[in-house]
Amino acid sequence: MAGIIVVGAQWGDEGKGKATDLIAGKMDYVARYNGGSNAGHTVVVGDQTYALRLMPSGIVNPGVTAVIGNGVALDPKELVEEKASLEQRGVDTSHLLISLSAQVTTGYHRYLDRVSESHLGKRKIGTTGRGIGPTYADKINRIGIRVADLFDEKAVTAKVEQNLALKNELLTKIYGAEPLDAHKVVDELLTYGEQLRPYAADTSLVLNKALDEGKNVLFEGGQATMLDIDHGTYPFVTSSNPTAGGACTGTGVGPTKITRVVGVSKAYTTRVGAGPFPTELFDESGQWLRDRGHEYGVVTKRPRRTGWFDALVVRYAVRVNGLTDLVITKLDTLTGLKKIPVCVAYDITDHDGSVRRVTELPVDQGLFDSAKPVYEELDGWDENITGITDFDRLPAAAQTYVRRLEELAGCRISLVGNGPQRDHVIRLHPLVD
Ligand code: IMP
Repeated sequence: MAGIIVVGAQWGDEGKGKATDLIAGKMDYVARYNGGSNAGHTVVVGDQTYALRLMPSGIVNPGVTAVIGNGVALDPKELVEEKASLEQRGVDTSHLLISLSAQVTTGYHRYLDRVSESHLGKRKIGTTGRGIGPTYADKINRIGIRVADLFDEKAVTAKVEQNLALKNELLTKIYGAEPLDAHKVVDELLTYGEQLRPYAADTSLVLNKALDEGKNVLFEGGQATMLDIDHGTYPFVTSSNPTAGGACTGTGVGPTKITRVVGVSKAYTTRVGAGPFPTELFDESGQWLRDRGHEYGVVTKRPRRTGWFDALVVRYAVRVNGLTDLVITKLDTLTGLKKIPVCVAYDITDHDGSVRRVTELPVDQGLFDSAKPVYEELDGWDENITGITDFDRLPAAAQTYVRRLEELAGCRISLVGNGPQRDHVIRLHPLVD
């Protein structure tokens, strides 16, 4: 039995697909546990590249059951469309299971996400506009719609009517937007719901039975540690728990069934949307990283903010997720730099104006906002390292860079990605026992 969690160690887009992909082949189940169609997973199979949003990446692996857990914000319209586009490309999607208790994202959640963002003005989060925050807000307010409700016309109609009575007041009177028609929302939910009905299941039961039978389950997180609603850079976060604990609550599998927690980090740092990012670069090296690393969003196509590796962030991810393994991606992007700065501390300005140096991430977001990175400079390398599979064949400076990241993060590095293709990796320790 293996229960392996894969989680982003930074602000998302770390290339989790690479690790997931390598592990998925040995898995019986791949279960998404948080987030919704805000996620963007790029999965490469043979000569085909799939940009997945809501689907668990296991959907492209025949023989793997792809599970959407209860912790996911499921937009039925998005899922039906994503499913159809995969089928058009010849992918068999019959091995999909959807939790009956996953929360449903509706048209009014998408609409509210966009309207409320524009209302926030300067304080806006820079969300993906996929209705994620409003869906989880309804879940916590206990007025959310669950997948099981989609198969009960009376229940779904009552919930939508009740919710829209209030939300339309908000839309028209506070946000100055147009009201929404409850019947249209219900019709959309019932139509798409009907198409998803054959896949709905008690996925907690399925996953637990599978683990008890010695099967292997990969728990796939959307977004990442620093976007976690509890542990991220609040309020500039997503509205779910991408951190490892979210895998348990988001699938109904207990922590005793988890055997490994794999964190994924780039060899540098990126972020999309608003919020603090201490090592962000505003000069030409930031653009250089963006161009070299093709740092543009999968879902939104937004240019990503770029910066140097931040050891405080990754060490924090090691702690809050209890990482057993670290995967470093895109090492090849750094080729050609004379010196590579790595952030080893912050100088933060306290509330009384005094400056102090810290080596752990400040939890007080006001202090985190003030963080100025303190860098250690490591030597760069010029040799092309793309596709090298043997660690010892890397230039000495690249080896030192990886080993230094390992030391600073406080977690063994098990895999290093050094190119776009599936087999462009250096394996240091196996990710599956
Ligand atoms: P939301 O999840 O759409 O509410 O957006 C909240 C924040 O999380 C914004 O800064 C988004 O840019 C960010 N975010 C959401 N999903 C992803 C992702 O998959 N990768 C990177 N950032 C994301």
